Amino acid sequence: MRVLGIETSCDETGVAIYDTEQGLLAHALHSQVAAHAGYGGVVPELASRDHIRRLLPLCEQVLSEAGLARRDLDAIAYTAGPGLIGALMVGSTFAHGLARALDIPVLGVHHMEAHLLAPMLEPEGPDFPFVALLVSGGHTQLVRVDDIGRYELLGESVDDAAGEAFDKAARMLGLEYPGGPRIAALAQEGTPDRFRFPRPMTNRPGLDFSFSGLKTYTRNTLRDATEAGEADHQLHADVALAFQTAVVETLAIKCRRALEQTGIRTLIVAGGVGANRALRDRLSAMVEPLECRVFYPRPEFCTDNGAMIAFAGHERLRAGQQDGPEMLAWPRWSM
Ligand code: KG4
Ligand code: ZN
Repeated sequence: MRVLGIETSCDETGVAIYDTEQGLLAHALHSQVAAHAGYGGVVPELASRDHIRRLLPLCEQVLSEAGLARRDLDAIAYTAGPGLIGALMVGSTFAHGLARALDIPVLGVHHMEAHLLAPMLEPEGPDFPFVALLVSGGHTQLVRVDDIGRYELLGESVDDAAGEAFDKAARMLGLEYPGGPRIAALAQEGTPDRFRFPRPMTNRPGLDFSFSGLKTYTRNTLRDATEAGEADHQLHADVALAFQTAVVETLAIKCRRALEQTGIRTLIVAGGVGANRALRDRLSAMVEPLECRVFYPRPEFCTDNGAMIAFAGHERLRAGQQDGPEMLAWPRWSM
């Protein structure tokens, strides 16, 4: 079965083709980061318009890279939510229109399910069951995954998502959106241990997270140092490092707790923040003494992409699931 996957939930247009026998045949991405850069975040209307412009050319591109024609497609999967409603509707309408024209099945998939299955796209991917740490701009969740569709939420952020915290701290440091990669780069110049930020909610039991306090801590640290006449590039690098270390430590503590609590020996990390090098290094060191293994998607499949939608859709379509005639778009949708 050959599945065309379409991702348009936010600010990336992603298209890919996944084949049962040969795996991923082609994938293409258009990032809108530059279009939104001046606004400090994603502008929904601009995002929708850009998806409209990009979808068809990206589809033609992946078909040509895979050496296929439209009639070689067996099914279409698209992101039905959660995300920006206008952006989702572009992908949903496009997918249903094309599926109707080709007379093939179509299926709306959950964006976060696709993120958490993304490590399975890799040649040496994980096997079920595993604990998934989902860390994106909109979600921070620990999920027990026993099989496709068998998910149990173990814990989640009670306020900001980890990526959102990165983006907000970055703005305080004068860095552009998306802030995660920029904080990570600046932190490399940071002085270890100049500041120690708190590790929120780690000294009480449970697997929930809270990141909004770190935002306040960042603001106050910058304010105090500025009042003391220390506002320079080094201050910013030191704050970036202290912030990143606090987020990474907090995530690592909770992942360890989730592995111990469930007795599962495999951890996977997915979502944009999963591209963070410091997080990867810390988690690899954390699982070693526990004799557990940690898996990641390749960095380009941590952030939004069409490949993960093609794969998640393929797994469900192969099990016989498909949409009815109605196009689906759910801005809020729990997994
Ligand atoms: O999964 P994603 O591409 O989109 C959502 O579904 O939200 O995640 C985007 C988030 C942004 O908040 C971005 O700042 C963060 O992932 N991010 C990172 C890194 N790369 C992207 N955060 C920390 N370190 C990174 N290297
Ligand atoms: Zn995402």
